[in-house]
Amino acid sequence: MSSMTELLHLIARWVHLIAGIMWIGNSMLFNWLDRNLVMPDDPEKGLIGENWMIHSGGFYQVKKLNPEPGALPKMLHWFKWQNGVTWLSGISLLVLVYYMGGAALMTDAAVSRITGGSAVLLGLGCVAASWVLYDLLWRSPLGKRQTLSFLLSIAIVLGLSAVLFHYLSGRAAYMHVGVMLGTLMTGNVWMVIIPSQRELVDATSEHRKQNLAKGYQAKARSIHNNYMTFPLLFIMISNHFPLTFGHALNWAVLLVLAFGSALIRHFMNIRFTWRNWFLPTTLVFFATCVATLIFFSHPAGFGRQESSPTGPQRWADIEPIIQSRCVPCHATRPTNAAVTVAPSGIIFERYSQVSQWKERIKLRVVSLRNMPLNNATNITDEERARIGAWIDQGARED
Ligand code: HEC
Repeated sequence: MSSMTELLHLIARWVHLIAGIMWIGNSMLFNWLDRNLVMPDDPEKGLIGENWMIHSGGFYQVKKLNPEPGALPKMLHWFKWQNGVTWLSGISLLVLVYYMGGAALMTDAAVSRITGGSAVLLGLGCVAASWVLYDLLWRSPLGKRQTLSFLLSIAIVLGLSAVLFHYLSGRAAYMHVGVMLGTLMTGNVWMVIIPSQRELVDATSEHRKQNLAKGYQAKARSIHNNYMTFPLLFIMISNHFPLTFGHALNWAVLLVLAFGSALIRHFMNIRFTWRNWFLPTTLVFFATCVATLIFFSHPAGFGRQESSPTGPQRWADIEPIIQSRCVPCHATRPTNAAVTVAPSGIIFERYSQVSQWKERIKLRVVSLRNMPLNNATNITDEERARIGAWIDQGARED
């Protein structure tokens, strides 16, 4: 059964990546196209703008136009399945990685005492609530006041994220914020943008004027999607960076990277009409990097002692700790029920295998304290401190 889960996981992740590249790639290309349309000297009727490109061994002329009433093209390509498949495969991944197997990754006793089942409900509840609140807001009369609604939307996402961070493990909180953004984007595509395109098609074929209100709604939503892409893409890769989700101030790290990257996205959007965009963009980029670096160099939070000092430690003192606290998972044949193969292929059965990983062990066990996973093997603070001291003293075998 576990090999089946592993295969499904592999397929879902692969599909998710491919569909995601196609969706985001498309949306960036269209965003670029829209901002780079020019009017030729003798524009044809209904032309909004055109664009010449070179690719695949030829020239492409793309025209954006309002077709004559009734003159619908024979072949019309819609773009929605790239998004649909990305979302569906993402939700499958969420279930496979976070919800199955006893939801072990969802909780962290150091964060809250919530059970796996409640954590799953809370996660799903926040995702659903984010869409309902956000969509209601933009459909309500308030939605006409763009700036206010934009700020309120940010408040909705921040508020629900705070709930997630309060109850779930850092990793699960990050991923659920990501799922929340991805769901807002997908809802926007299917519930607002596609219906407005459908209205445009119907209006054209029925020889009537398009309902412009729908078009404006769709435009606003697609701008929101545009700003969510960079933060969402960061969350997708954040799992590979324990210093982000595992940081004592993991929510602040996410805040900095999300707002920093959204601002960079903004500058990239307006760069075609803003001559001096390059310097501010570079400044925001470096400011975000510096802030992140400051966080990364204080993994346990600011002004907190990492561990109480202990006397000299020898491998003979450390080996039993590793054996009882780590080897149940990090073994050729793990005995812990939650894992089937050595996590990340990391095995701690011999001295050399441990010393090889000493920096990561120090980071995960002593600084971030998110290993052993969920503290499944009940490591004590004293044992963490002794492992840290042994590594600081050179991680020697004798
Ligand atoms: C309950 C199972 C479990 C136990 C017990 C456990 N680990 Fe892990 N470990 C994992 C899993 C799952 C991963 C991969 C996911 C991750 O990186 O968080 C992992 C990954 C790691 C990594 C690689 C992380 C990286 O950032 O590259 C290190 C190092 C590590 N564990 C060290 C330890 C040490 C040291 C102990 C004992 C003190 C320990 N683990 C106990 C499950 C466990």
